[in-house]
Amino acid sequence: MTSAPLIDLIAGARPNFMKIAPIIDALQAARARGAAVRFRLVHTGQHYDRTMSGSFFEQLGLPDPDVNLEVGSGTAAEQTAAIMTRYEQVLLREKSALCVVVGDVTSTMACAITAQKLGVPVAHVEGGLRSGDWSMPEEINRLVTDAITNYFFTTTEGANAQLRSNGVGGERIFFVGNTMIDTLLKHRPRFQAPPVWTHAGLRPQGFLVLTLHRPANVDDEDRLRGLMAEVMRGACGRPVVFPVHPRTAKTLQRIGVTAPNLHLTEPLSYLEFNFLVERAQAVITDSGGVTEETTVLGVPCLTLRDTTERPETVALGTNELIGSDPVALHPYLEKLYAGGWKRGAIPPRWDGFAGERIVTHLLERLGVSSGSVESAP
Ligand code: UD1
Repeated sequence: MTSAPLIDLIAGARPNFMKIAPIIDALQAARARGAAVRFRLVHTGQHYDRTMSGSFFEQLGLPDPDVNLEVGSGTAAEQTAAIMTRYEQVLLREKSALCVVVGDVTSTMACAITAQKLGVPVAHVEGGLRSGDWSMPEEINRLVTDAITNYFFTTTEGANAQLRSNGVGGERIFFVGNTMIDTLLKHRPRFQAPPVWTHAGLRPQGFLVLTLHRPANVDDEDRLRGLMAEVMRGACGRPVVFPVHPRTAKTLQRIGVTAPNLHLTEPLSYLEFNFLVERAQAVITDSGGVTEETTVLGVPCLTLRDTTERPETVALGTNELIGSDPVALHPYLEKLYAGGWKRGAIPPRWDGFAGERIVTHLLERLGVSSGSVESAP
């Protein structure tokens, strides 16, 4: 008897967890309907703290990883090498039929290379995104991963066009929507107030949320000091809630920024962070994923970057690209305070069914019957 094909699902860093969860849900549902497929959740351990990893597993109802590579922190090369060496051992113990990677973090690229070198086909969820900025580690991860991906699960028409212009045949591109948004829509009714909501006396639309973690913004003391000064000036006394990423915390501790209306917190859990985002007057960020969440929640978003790999959040959504000079925040904030922010629309197929679509395609690729149920729209 041949055993059911095995799919590896790779998750390593915080933004991966919400992207993989809907795929696990859909795979579990397919198995419950009798689909003969197995999966192995591989956590690389790139993020390992409770605040960066554990709380996401709990709140999103993720199963315990089947394998934890426990690579921990290090330089990009150290992390890449450790993930590759350890994932290779996992594959040598039992080779999977397919390796599914999500997003653009170091774990994504490292596992894609390892799998493909051992002849395991790679599926990339969120393939085809490009910022064009090679100074961002994520852009290198996207380019390398997509160069060796067999099946692309895309979030936007822009990503489809990018892949086609790179010579990828349409039969390898599956426009499925956005699994990060599946997670957002599923858990929206469960968002919960973090302690800072009461401590700081926050009120709906009466405060700003700030997130900063890009190396270009947070590794240099002068740069971070300048950013914080302009954000606090632009807040005009409104409370600013700043959940601090561990990378940012290192620099922030050295420069010691304080203000009565600045509320620094640990990295928040998924349900707590999005509770705040949904009620914020605006979010100021250098994240990519947050610009997608604010677009769906209809919350104004100001992105402190020169480029974005998610242009639909600007063209369709509530996001504006401010650039890297934080002084440019002020005219945008004036527009916000004057009530002139665009309303935005939700990009096509960001409808909560991406995970189901992905699993339908995965089972087809593997020749597994998915049982006869109504498929996602
Ligand atoms: C990574 C991703 C980035 C993603 C971000 C979300 C890459 C290249 N970057 O960046 O795309 O937006 O995650 O958070 O993969 N640390 C802890 N605890 C942890 C994890 C990290 O304290 O659980 C600290 C360590 O000191 C580490 C630093 O954070 O050196 C940075 O972590 P790292 O995994 O290198 O990249 P991020 O900056 O988190």
